[in-house]
Amino acid sequence: MNPLNHVVIFGATSAIATAVARRLAADGAHLFCVARNAERLESLLADLRVRGDDPAGERIRGLAADPADPATHENAWTAAREHLGEVDAALLAWGSLPDPATSHNSVEATQEALRINGTSAVALLTRIAPDFEAQGHGVIGAIGSVAGDRGRQSNYVYGTAKGMLATYLQGLRHRLAPAGVDVVTLKPGFVSTPMTEGFDRSGPLWASPDSVARGILRALRRGRAVAYLPWFWRVIMTIIRAIPDPLFRHLRL
Ligand SMILES: NC(=O)c1ccc[n+]([C@@H]2O[C@H](COP(=O)([O-])OP(=O)(O)OC[C@H]3O[C@@H](n4cnc5c(N)ncnc54)[C@H](OP(=O)(O)O)[C@@H]3O)[C@@H](O)[C@H]2O)c1
Repeated sequence: MNPLNHVVIFGATSAIATAVARRLAADGAHLFCVARNAERLESLLADLRVRGDDPAGERIRGLAADPADPATHENAWTAAREHLGEVDAALLAWGSLPDPATSHNSVEATQEALRINGTSAVALLTRIAPDFEAQGHGVIGAIGSVAGDRGRQSNYVYGTAKGMLATYLQGLRHRLAPAGVDVVTLKPGFVSTPMTEGFDRSGPLWASPDSVARGILRALRRGRAVAYLPWFWRVIMTIIRAIPDPLFRHLRL
């Protein structure tokens, strides 16, 4: 089992990441939270310090920096390591669901969606992987999506970014395994967060950020390769991937 006592979270103000951080804070973990919005970050840190009984912020700290901008990575990673020392776990959690009509018809919007959801995460992983490798233990988790499992007309640009991330993580997992470092691809389905505001959230497929957070922590502790969150998405996506293309192209998914 991987210990989660010293953890850095990039994109910590995401609803899913916040739920993860709250659970870790309550467990007494040392946390370093990185998020782009200074005001939201400060209120998150205040909340975590209450939950973690750390009023002086000795264990729980953070830095306002945009994780989707690779220019911030060096500084943020250095600050995280100065606070945490050896890092048990790094969680990458930022992302944004682009408007399909815009991203499917605009080169700029497509490139922006690929940067936010794909290439910026790959850039950060490229920076931090050698340090985990040298350290010889730890776990890296990145939040992808079931959308990366098969391209669909409704959100294939977002799906492309998450699919790229999943393939990168697969290779990184293979590379870091001999060093004793786990790399976990986290694939949530539908989660009720600000990202999905405006969606019809009725139906049994929707999960809460906290239930997904519980699954993320379990997967990180166990060093699972790929975790579908909740678990039943593994079954759903196995079926969706297996649908032959001649049939799939008639479905409105
Ligand atoms: N919700 C779902 O149904 C679902 C399903 C599958 C995967 N996911 C993935 O889960 C992760 C967490 O998302 P969430 O559902 O918790 O959503 P969320 O609460 O809306 O959080 C999104 C996070 O990404 C940051 N962000 C948004 N747009 C950004 C931009 N343009 N540049 C840089 N950072 C940006 C936000 O920062 P601010 O706080 O500053 O806005 C926030 O930290 C994401 O990777 C998402 O793709 C979500």
